[in-house]
Amino acid sequence: MTFETYLEHALDSVSESRVKKAMQYSLMAPGKRLRPRLVVLTAESCGIEPFKAYPAASALEMIHTYSLIHDDLPAMDDDDLRRGRKTCHVEFDEATAILAGDGLLTEAFAHISRADYSDAIKAQCMKVLAVNAGADGMVLGQILDLTNENNPECTYETLKQIHINKTGRLFSAALQLGAIVAERSDECERLDQIGLLLGLAFQIQDDLLDITSTSEMMGKTIGKDLESHKSTTCSILGIENSRKLLDEVYEQMLKQLGECSFDTAEIKKLFLEMKERIR
Ligand code: IPE
Ligand code: IPE
Ligand code: MG
Ligand code: MG
Ligand code: MG
Repeated sequence: MTFETYLEHALDSVSESRVKKAMQYSLMAPGKRLRPRLVVLTAESCGIEPFKAYPAASALEMIHTYSLIHDDLPAMDDDDLRRGRKTCHVEFDEATAILAGDGLLTEAFAHISRADYSDAIKAQCMKVLAVNAGADGMVLGQILDLTNENNPECTYETLKQIHINKTGRLFSAALQLGAIVAERSDECERLDQIGLLLGLAFQIQDDLLDITSTSEMMGKTIGKDLESHKSTTCSILGIENSRKLLDEVYEQMLKQLGECSFDTAEIKKLFLEMKERIR
């Protein structure tokens, strides 16, 4: 079974309602599925069958999707296009979108609780998800992002904290989840650091693409960062230095990846593919 087919059925046990429709609408919109791919690839690289990582990968994609639904709300980035479709609050309404986010976040943990994992693995997965998604993780990055809108004094150090938290934390969770389900949690500390660097790189690219790409290509509205006076890599460092920084972060990240005690060749391939992304 492909991951996409598994994900399509991941909400089957949730009873029918307007909020479930909104959850399914956003979850099954054509996202790139990078975080689940990282979970599955890491688990596979650690020697287990890919499908064993699907529950953990789905839980993370639910949390990522919730973060996007809330990120697009009028009170946050106020966007109307996501994954090539109307954002959740535009297709449904604001209250439903808030609840769809709440539903996906909570269902992620319920999904892990039902998985065919040992209790110890379930507990580790839940901890990694909670720590990285929560108020000291992605949520922290989001509040720092919002409070630094219209802040001309925002330094690169602050921006780095924003990126590491709002984007790096879920990448870090992805790599760690893969190791955990493969019973290689001894690699979690290193994978945590690699994930944060990957997120940093990914967000540098996201900021660059917000200037250089098109809405059709990205499936989301482009030019919003400038319009909403966000502090971004480009607004602080400029485009050329942002590209240089991207190369530096990649170098550091690949060096750390090479120090892992399992074969990381396939993960490296995906990292390099991500570096060339155009959406
Ligand atoms: C978008 O993430 C949010 C950021 C962290 C920049 P993705 O670019 O991975 O979004 P999808 O999942 O493909 O829609
Ligand atoms: C979003 O960052 C990060 C999270 C949703 C956690 P952005 O606000 O830059 O993402 P886009 O550009 O809307 O996808
Ligand atoms: Mg945002
Ligand atoms: Mg946004
Ligand atoms: Mg962005």
